[in-house]
Amino acid sequence: MRLPFFSRARSLGFATMGAQIEARHRRCERWWAPHVRNTREFLAQQISPGLRVGVLGAGRLIDVDADELLERSQEVHLIDADPGCRSVWRAVGSGQRRKKLVARTEDVTACILAWSRQIASIDGRSRLAAGLSALHAPRPAWADEPFDLIVSLNLLGQIPLYWRDFVRATHATLSEHEEEQLALSMGELQSAHLRALFSSMASRVILIFDSEYYFYEASRAEWRVESAMFGAAADALRAGAASRVLKGSDTWLWHLAPQFVEQADEGEIHKVEALAFG
Ligand SMILES: C[S@@+](CC[C@H](N)C(=O)[O-])C[C@H]1O[C@@H](n2cnc3c(N)ncnc32)[C@H](O)[C@@H]1O
Repeated sequence: MRLPFFSRARSLGFATMGAQIEARHRRCERWWAPHVRNTREFLAQQISPGLRVGVLGAGRLIDVDADELLERSQEVHLIDADPGCRSVWRAVGSGQRRKKLVARTEDVTACILAWSRQIASIDGRSRLAAGLSALHAPRPAWADEPFDLIVSLNLLGQIPLYWRDFVRATHATLSEHEEEQLALSMGELQSAHLRALFSSMASRVILIFDSEYYFYEASRAEWRVESAMFGAAADALRAGAASRVLKGSDTWLWHLAPQFVEQADEGEIHKVEALAFG
């Protein structure tokens, strides 16, 4: 399952989006710095030594200190769909410590490839909405692997975006009803991720995620607020959180796209929440 995914990852946009995240980080480094620092500090506080750890959405290791993680853990699995991460991961650790690192290029939802094939094969427009509403996300294999700790690292908000972009690219101009069904399918991806995380074999889970998006114009006092959780994802988070013990939490703002740096007409800030559960 991993090899076919690796070969299709480029066409599904993961590599392009990964390169864009890295380029934006370079342009916005000082605006991102508090978010990067807060994420790294939260992880440093919450990770106990000696664990087998899975990091979902490890990406290009901007917001996680992989060397420190390797030093404190028996085994660290870096997991991301973007094949471009591999060159960054190769530079992590050395000697014996390096052997503790497992590099995995895979889709954490385990279904984007299958879903994209299903939807790409629909040509009659009348069937698109029904096709979207019939999609069900499976339980991914990582949930049943013997990890002591799983970290979902600034990933939850990103998961549905690749899927949304794929559907919009393959089916021009969606109707209002199709957009609604698309949003529900995006929520299905997020909900399945949360269900898998909370019911995983791991005795500890850390979830760092965007919960809200704030859009601003520097010359106006009003903000536009949008939820970063689609469909039933907020309910899945509530139910999952109730099934575990909260060990630590924090929240902060991530100035993702400062106005005039990324776009002239508006800027974007994300509310980030960090939750550690036992
Ligand atoms: C905002 S970035 C997180 C930052 C990342 N930890 C870093 O330091 O570069 C989100 C990451 O999630 C990954 N991602 C998004 N959807 C994914 C999926 N379905 N499966 C695996 N990784 C995914 C992206 O490739 C990206 O690296």
